[in-house]
Amino acid sequence: MPTRRRAYVIAQFSDVHCGDPRFEEQLMLRLVREVNEARPDLVIVPGDLTADGYDEQFHEFTRFLDLIDCPQRVVIAGNHDCRNVGDLLFERIVGPRNLTATFDFPPDGDRSLVVVAVDSNIPDLNDGEVGREKMRLAERDLAGDAGFRIFVLHHHLVSIPGTGRERNIVWDAGDVLHSLRDAGVDLVLAGHKHVPYIWPVGDTLIVTSGTGASRRTRGDAPPSYNLLEIDGRSIEVTVRSLADGVAVKQRLPRRAGEARTARAR
Ligand SMILES: [Fe+2]
Ligand SMILES: [Fe+2]
Repeated sequence: MPTRRRAYVIAQFSDVHCGDPRFEEQLMLRLVREVNEARPDLVIVPGDLTADGYDEQFHEFTRFLDLIDCPQRVVIAGNHDCRNVGDLLFERIVGPRNLTATFDFPPDGDRSLVVVAVDSNIPDLNDGEVGREKMRLAERDLAGDAGFRIFVLHHHLVSIPGTGRERNIVWDAGDVLHSLRDAGVDLVLAGHKHVPYIWPVGDTLIVTSGTGASRRTRGDAPPSYNLLEIDGRSIEVTVRSLADGVAVKQRLPRRAGEARTARAR
């Protein structure tokens, strides 16, 4: 009988941009192979699956997604997916644009992991916004007894170095960050500007992923994806380059749970 791993593994990749001239199938297949080798418990894809939100681009993406063995997945749309009214095709071909999902979470015994994923896109704009209505629903879904809370959006919540002139943060970032802190969110996963980065903000860790399968890179940041290993005390984030296999690891303490417990006393 195989022994259960102590750490819970999440594979995060985004911005593969199927249909883009700089998309490379070899990178995508390497990404699929490596994610399968990591045997993740959960796969999270924070958007920009396509170049322009066209039907055949979504189908190309889902053909690759189906090669990933992990059945537990959360996939949302990015600004590129919503071009040309692609948000309607996303719903038809990929799934809901906003969702809450709950999973078993062995590192915290019988407590669960909850993922709230929101569509932060504004039709016909590259800018993003979560909006009060979606945030109220997120607060409701994050308020339960989960042991670990994850919030997923496509755009940035804080500035990411090396992404150029700042216009990538959602318009309501301050309000969203405030709500996420109050909800005791452990982890925020995002994509958008193709630069992997880790920002601890308060007790929450904000992790962005690079471009998973394209050469739409910025500066020295290669195509890459993230693996997150979560145990009872810490979160280890590994950024793995798909260009040369180099992996950069960073281990950070889990803090949101502690803060939540302290507030409840
Ligand atoms: Fe992108
Ligand atoms: Fe984007």
